[in-house]
Amino acid sequence: MKALIASGGRGTRLRPITHTRNKHLIPIANKPILYYAIEAAADAGIREIGIVVNADSNEVPDAIGSGSRWGVTITYIPQQSPGGLAQVVALGEPFIGNDRFIFYLGDNLVVGGVKRFIDEFEKSRCNCFLTLAKVKDPERFGVPEIREGKIIGVEEKPLHPRSSYAVAGIYLYDSCIFEAVKNITPSARGELEISDAHQYLIRKGKNVGYAEITGWWKDTGKPTDLLEANRLVLDNITPAVRGDVDERSTVAGKVVIEKGARIVNSVIRGPAIIGEGCLVEDSYIGPFSSVGNNTTLKGSEVEYSIILRDCRIANVGIRLEGSILGNDVEIVEATGKPRVHRFMIGDQSRVELV
Ligand code: DAU
Repeated sequence: MKALIASGGRGTRLRPITHTRNKHLIPIANKPILYYAIEAAADAGIREIGIVVNADSNEVPDAIGSGSRWGVTITYIPQQSPGGLAQVVALGEPFIGNDRFIFYLGDNLVVGGVKRFIDEFEKSRCNCFLTLAKVKDPERFGVPEIREGKIIGVEEKPLHPRSSYAVAGIYLYDSCIFEAVKNITPSARGELEISDAHQYLIRKGKNVGYAEITGWWKDTGKPTDLLEANRLVLDNITPAVRGDVDERSTVAGKVVIEKGARIVNSVIRGPAIIGEGCLVEDSYIGPFSSVGNNTTLKGSEVEYSIILRDCRIANVGIRLEGSILGNDVEIVEATGKPRVHRFMIGDQSRVELV
């Protein structure tokens, strides 16, 4: 069993954060999203992982490396331009060969790992095994039609979904999938859709099974998905205080404070993670917040937010909530007269004021 992970694409729905960073490297609970996919494969006993990357960038290989830190070997497979997930699978064929494999979308997160799906797939001897999750907005996903416990069709982003399930980005295949991805044509949005490959297998009478994801699963396609994924991952963190907390501060709930971080006269209410070298002074950090390394917060309040490294937040009069800040961002009190809001923000940013 091998793993193929998709980490290409342009991440347009996550701009401006993805202007300067591949979406799979955005940290969730201070760890790049892609790490979770690699960890899930390694925890399931997989030792050979292929990662499909944008051919014009070394960002992912530079950030992930050889795989040795997870005890796996990683092969990088370049994709010239994002032609769809079925194209990603086709590009993986020389790496996969005749092995059975798990195809994991690098922007998906699932709690509890993937071993249980691999075990079910192996037991079932299906040609293709899909994981399904109940969602409120199936029209955003690949949607299965199920009759008498069998998948009888799959449609990509249908206007009128035939079930309330999304096909999650964790798929298990044998080599039949390579015939399918070679025999489909691009969709209206110009992509070779993985749902069309599944539909092809169903039409050809192949054995397509499924399992329902009963815990949480998240596709991190939109900014609000990132905040939700961050909330769900933080909910499961193991508390650890490796930094300094002074006697005027209160730390409550599941909180990780990394080494070199200093908490001075502040309240930290978990679940939350505060990165190495941070300074939190006269401030409040509330539930579901991640603060990246070397960020400074003074006289400010933050809750349910993702703040990346080297940010400076000082004397902001109102609590920041539901916010995502990239690296080196400053939100500070305006000084001098007249009293103003002053912005210097890049393309496709969004600011909400009271
Ligand atoms: O998350 C589950 C959904 O993922 C499924 O329900 C859909 O059937 C499936 O098509 C896919 O839909 P998305 O619209 O969310 O796919 P997206 O374009 O966001 O790409 C998913 C991942 O694959 C993401 O990590 C980027 C990567 N990717 C995408 C394309 C199109 C590539 O590496 N190369 C590509 O060409």
